[in-house]
This record gives sequence, structure tokens and C-alpha cells, in this order.
Amino acid sequence: MKNWLALLFLTAVANTAVGQGVTFNKDVAPIIFQNCSGCHRAGEVGPMPLTNYGEVSAWGGMIKYVTANKIMPPWRPDPHYSRFADERRLSDKEIELIGRWVDDGMPEGDPAHLPPFPDFPPGSPLGEPDVVYTIPAYTVPNNGDVYHRVTIPSGFTTDKWINGVELVPDNRAIVHHMLLYVGQYMQNMIGGWVPGQRDRFLPDNMAYKIPAGSNLILEIHYAPGSMGQVDQSQVKLHFCPNQTNPRQVFIQPYINWVMGLQNGPLRIQANEVKTFYNSFNLNSNISVLGLAPHMHLIGRSMEVFSVHGSDTTKLIKIPDWNFAWQGFYMPQKLIKIPAGSAIKAVSTYDNTPNNPFNPSNPPQLVQSGESTYDEMLLCYFIYVNYQAGDENIWLTDTTRNALTVYPGDANNDGTVTTSDFFLTAAGYGKTGPMREPLHQSTVFRAQKASYWPGTTNYRGTPVNDAFLDANGDGVLSLFDVAVAVLHRGQTRP
Ligand code: HEC
Repeated sequence: MKNWLALLFLTAVANTAVGQGVTFNKDVAPIIFQNCSGCHRAGEVGPMPLTNYGEVSAWGGMIKYVTANKIMPPWRPDPHYSRFADERRLSDKEIELIGRWVDDGMPEGDPAHLPPFPDFPPGSPLGEPDVVYTIPAYTVPNNGDVYHRVTIPSGFTTDKWINGVELVPDNRAIVHHMLLYVGQYMQNMIGGWVPGQRDRFLPDNMAYKIPAGSNLILEIHYAPGSMGQVDQSQVKLHFCPNQTNPRQVFIQPYINWVMGLQNGPLRIQANEVKTFYNSFNLNSNISVLGLAPHMHLIGRSMEVFSVHGSDTTKLIKIPDWNFAWQGFYMPQKLIKIPAGSAIKAVSTYDNTPNNPFNPSNPPQLVQSGESTYDEMLLCYFIYVNYQAGDENIWLTDTTRNALTVYPGDANNDGTVTTSDFFLTAAGYGKTGPMREPLHQSTVFRAQKASYWPGTTNYRGTPVNDAFLDANGDGVLSLFDVAVAVLHRGQTRP
């Protein structure tokens, strides 16, 4: 018992005595490497690299400004409305640390504290794909908005189930976004790409279906001003481990401007600010895996929710729409929407000169259409048909992705309680793979881990031992038990 107390005490000390001054190597580098360098490095969308002390300190003042004002990392959904996997957001504490470091004159600190630069694997972040299609080299023919639609024979002679889709832009300077369909354009969408997107596997037993002999249709939007540039973007598909009877994943634009628009048509007069209302009646139970709102340049905001009796489920709210930052947003857990619900959207468009993104000055009448200067009103839903228990599936934890571990939350239920302490103690002595150095922290935030070979039972349900390894050192020790105690009461953000 004495040992235990000593350990708890030591851990507490280790957690509070973080040294006085904020330095790059100790405090700022881990934040920048995890949240900024992915885009701010050679060949990526960020306009300048942020990969070492020299590069980051050169931009110090600006970095303080863009983080304090939540301009960077770019993240459009309102986190007070609904939460998603892979949120690109800094905690208040991280923002404060960056600000303090800049105010203190940006000390570099002890080189021994510098974490290794993360490994950004070239090519496929999801690992070796099963099939790769490369489009024939395409030269963009003019300087307008160019939508290039390529039909790609799948070559599949039997039905295939896909649970990882990567659309890989080749010429990053010009590829604005991409969408992938099976069989027919605008039907059966199975994937998309926008700048800054992070690809994910679907859960192991959920997949898109590609029927034998079908074509894939890839639509690539090249930004205006790309004439003469050449592109050879790629589609990479990963087969679902279950090729016999996985649950089929669908993507449907339940919110769209053609059906269910209550005060249509989608037409915004010059100098008008107009709000549109959609309502779609859902007639089966679904579990939502993802949401992708879409508007063009004069769109300003969109809120999507579902109503069932007196229950409202908040799905997504983009309070300050920006055409440059769109995405497929995956909730942290599957969201059930019961049959009989109305799926609703409220979307506002600003066709006045006050809208900095208005492409016309003076403003012109804007109607629905394909060009960037026309408008759209869409929210795609990625879903499976509901099954009991879906509400408990975390999308952040699909087995083929790295696991997400919150140190101390051994049973992975989102909150650290005494149960986590007992569970960690029950796994005492087991070993497994260490986490990468950048994720060997006991701070209660998402830490990336690999699956361990073993499991420990929590009330009859096996929990992968990786969740029990609070500090990521590959051994279940008293230290891990202590972390579960120290983090008691913490809840996953
Ligand atoms: C998803 C990709 C992405 C991530 C992640 C990201 N950035 Fe950016 N950043 C960009 C792009 C693209 C721009 C160019 C401006 C724009 O389009 O918004 C930019 C612009 C900036 C600028 C302004 C440069 C200028 O000349 O105006 C700063 C400073 C910056 N980023 C810092 C950061 C920091 C600090 C982080 C992490 C906390 C970060 N960024 C994360 C993509 C990203």
C-alpha cells in the first residue's frame, strides 16, 4: 500500500512540475507537429513549412494570432453544437501555451525535449491499398472552373466490398476537390477529397459495395486559372476484411435543393440575404457515419438536425461557411436517427457586397447550378441501416486505423472512473507494442496506439489491452493504474 501511495504522489509531482518557462522543444513542438505540420510541409497545402524551430519562430507572431483567433488549424463545424472524429482543433491550454511562448521571446529550450518529427508516410496514409487506379494524364483546357469526369472500369469480376477509399490528388496546386461514384454520376457516391482531409477506414464490418463489372466515376474539380496544367490523380481502394456479408454503407444527399426545399427555388437576388429551410422525412432507422454539407461561394451558414417527436438531434452546424474548407465529417460515435424523423436544414446565403466571398461586384442574381458561381444546397449523409447497439460504436476506433486511447480511460467508455482503475490493475504485467514517442504522454487527450495482442475482461466484455496502457510504454505497470486514479472524472472531449 505504501508503494502505491508513493507512486501516486510521484506521478502527481511529475504532472505538475512541468518546469517554469515554456520552450519550443518541450511545449510548442508537440502541438505544432501534431496539428500543423501535416499541412505545413513540402508538397502540402499550407503556404509555408512549419517543421522545425527556425520555421516556426519565423512565423511566431502570426501563429499566435491565427491560433488565438481559431483560424488555424482550419475547422469549420461549431464544436459546441456537435463533435466529430479527427477534429482539427487546439485546446484552450495549447493556444495559451503558444501565446505565452511567443510573448516570452520564443525560447528554443533543451534539445533533449524535442519530440521526433512525426512520420508522414508518403502515398497512402491507410497503408498499402488493394487496388490503385491512375487517371490518364489530363491537361486542363481553360482557365474557368473545370469539372473533369473520368470513367474508370473497376475490373471487378465479382462484387467487392470496400471499406477504405482514398482519392489522391496529383497536382495539388490545381485540384480543388474530387468525388467518386459507383455506376452512375451523382448516384452511389462512395468517397470524396477536399484539402486537409484525413482518410479513415470504415468499421471492419461496414463497407461500400462495388457490384461486379461496374464502373467508377471520378469527378475532379480544377480551380480557375489552371489552364495548361497536367494532372494524374489516383483512386486507391482498400477491401473490407469481410467480403461475404458486411453491412452496406450508403451515401445520400438527404438535404438537397431539388426535393424537400420548403421555400425554394434556390435563387438569391442581387443584394439579398436569404435563408432556406429543408425538411426530409426519413422512413427507416439509420445510423449516421458521416455528414458532408456543401454550398458554394455565397453560402454563409448551414445547420442540420433531426426532429423526432419532442427530440432534436443536433447533427452539424457550420456557422461561418468557407468554400475552401469543406469536408466529410465523421461523428465520434454512430448517431441513430429513428424512422419517422424529419431531417431539417437551415441555410443562409449572402448575396450582398458585405460577403467577402461574393464573386460578383456588383452582386448578380445567383441560382442553382454546377459552376462555382452558381449555388448548391446539399448535405450528404453517410449511413448504415440501424442495428441495436450502434449507438455504442466509436468511429475513432476502427481496428484497421490506429486506435485512439485516452490515458486512464481503460474501458474506453469516455469517462475515467474507478472501474478504469480496477480494469488496469486486472491487466497488470501484460505487454504489447509501445506507442510512437509523440503519443507516449499521459495527458488526457487522444493518443494514437496500435492494437495489442491481448484483451482484459471488463464486466464480461473484452477490452483491448492497448487502452489499459496509459503512458504508452508497452507494459501495464502500477504507473498506468496511477494514471487512471489521477484522471478520475475526466471525460473525453
Ligand atoms: C488542413 C491543413 C492545415 C492545417 C492543419 C493547418 N494549416 Fe495553416 N494554413 C493552411 C492553408 C491552406 C493556409 C493558406 C490560407 C488559407 O487558405 O486559409 C494556411 C495559412 C496559415 C497561416 C497564414 C499564412 C499567411 O501567409 O497568411 C498561418 C500563420 C498558419 N497557417 C499557421 C498554422 C498553424 C500554427 C497550424 C496549426 C496550429 C496550422 N496552420 C494548421 C493549411 C493548414
